[in-house]
Amino acid sequence: MADWSPTDYLRYTDERSRPFGELVARVRRRPASILDLGCGPGHLTAVLRRRWPGASVVGLDTSAAMIERARATDPHGTYLLGDVRDHATGRSGAGDADLVISNAAFQWVPDHRDLLPLLADRARHAFAFSVPGNHDAPSHALLREVAARPPFADVVGPVERRATADPAQYLDDLARPGWHVDAWETTYVHVLDGDDPVLAWISATGAQPVLHALDDHDREHGSDLRTRFDAQYGAALRAAYPRRPYGTPLEFRRVFVVATRGV
Ligand SMILES: C[S@@+](CC[C@H](N)C(=O)[O-])C[C@H]1O[C@@H](n2cnc3c(N)ncnc32)[C@H](O)[C@@H]1O
Repeated sequence: MADWSPTDYLRYTDERSRPFGELVARVRRRPASILDLGCGPGHLTAVLRRRWPGASVVGLDTSAAMIERARATDPHGTYLLGDVRDHATGRSGAGDADLVISNAAFQWVPDHRDLLPLLADRARHAFAFSVPGNHDAPSHALLREVAARPPFADVVGPVERRATADPAQYLDDLARPGWHVDAWETTYVHVLDGDDPVLAWISATGAQPVLHALDDHDREHGSDLRTRFDAQYGAALRAAYPRRPYGTPLEFRRVFVVATRGV
């Protein structure tokens, strides 16, 4: 898959950052070392150093573009190119940390639930993460529906439903002797500005595999599938998320888990 665009991703930075703050607020013990898995462009990893001054903070991500942006905007941080799956088996090179934290990344990791106990084992105090819980929201259902139409379906194939679990299921995954697990969910109602804001929002994240497949095809064949897809998907999103006088409301459910050792 083509790489992420840090610039597009950062467009709704306030809305995307809020769950991270609410996750961090539930971490009770002061960590001396922190690992941020799927750190993206590093703007939230830098927040961790402000929250716990003096802590050593490392960000890890598979995207070269994201790691490059993180190193440029947060030169005091340590950013490593690496995979969450390798970290689960101790092969990421990042080492263990007091706090292992992750925001909006595990939904991209295949079979992420199987990895959770292993990732928790690599945390000396706490393992905290948040994932989107909106895989059946109109934004995602319409992505699958429009991508299944001709001529897009032949190019993109079936679109994966990147399902995350409910808080009680994550509690069940991580509640083991010696651990206390706090799991909850929040549905935010973001009010987005501008034209086609839901298309812009999801084009920087969840729709990327589809859009990159269309872009690659257009480049190779001189076609205009991406423009045609944006027109059809954009129209479907405008109908599902009508613009109001004050902006376009986007309901966004997120799931949070903080697993803490020894309490
Ligand atoms: C939606 S962004 C979240 C970035 C940041 N944590 C935030 O909250 O703004 C998802 C990030 O997960 C990264 N990612 C996806 N799969 C990964 C994997 N297997 N290992 C490490 N990072 C991964 C992507 O490259 C991307 O930067």
